[in-house]
Amino acid sequence: MPSQAESVNQTQVTTPALTIRPAAESDLETLGALLTALSDLSRYHRFQAPIPTPPRPALLRHLLHPTGAAWLATRADHPLAHAMWAWATPTSVPGASSPEKIAELAVVVADGEQGKGLGVRMLTVAAADAVEAGATHFLLVVGASNERSLGMVRRRWPGAVGERDGSLLSFVVPARPAAGPRSEVRPRELCRTTGR
Ligand SMILES: CC(C)(COP(=O)(O)OP(=O)(O)OC[C@H]1O[C@@H](n2cnc3c(N)ncnc32)[C@H](O)[C@@H]1OP(=O)(O)O)[C@@H](O)C(=O)NCCC(=O)NCCS
Repeated sequence: MPSQAESVNQTQVTTPALTIRPAAESDLETLGALLTALSDLSRYHRFQAPIPTPPRPALLRHLLHPTGAAWLATRADHPLAHAMWAWATPTSVPGASSPEKIAELAVVVADGEQGKGLGVRMLTVAAADAVEAGATHFLLVVGASNERSLGMVRRRWPGAVGERDGSLLSFVVPARPAAGPRSEVRPRELCRTTGR
């Protein structure tokens, strides 16, 4: 008869590792599957506009190949999240002027994986890369009803004021650690929003 420890070992299921890797052209289908499976609310929060299901290849390519960079999180080839950053032209950023180099950040996590830290991890990767590429500021475009994302921004940049445009709030914030409750967080560990 197996001991208790042996019995536990025999029934243990190994969870495949989570991988965060740069997105590639070959990820069209993977990214399409991630976006197609999103709830209406998550899709709305990410894109702030209706997108077709399945998403058009042109949108997927934009998300895979932004002017900055993009990443996918997968587990056993199953898509869990997408993050990206893209250069924002100063004219498109409220309150910004050259020579600021502004990187717009965006992320989406599969509904079943939300609230487990993956969104922050993805943003950490994207923000670090944008800073390395020379970004001095981040642009975060967040729906006014997106409390989770607004909380992420406000906890890291307590003084940030979002410029309202209809149902959207645009935050242009310094690409550096914010003071306050999240002061232990490195600049790269910040939230952001892009790829509309
Ligand atoms: C917003 C989003 C990217 C966050 O990713 P996530 O993996 O769900 O969240 P995390 O576990 O990384 O936590 C992120 C923050 O939300 C907070 N949070 C997590 N679950 C929460 C919940 N149920 N309610 C409120 N806040 C919550 C966390 O405390 C964390 O904040 P902090 O780091 O400032 O403490 C994800 O929920 C998502 O994809 N939402 C839909 C699309 C979207 O809104 N994208 C962002 C705008 S483009």
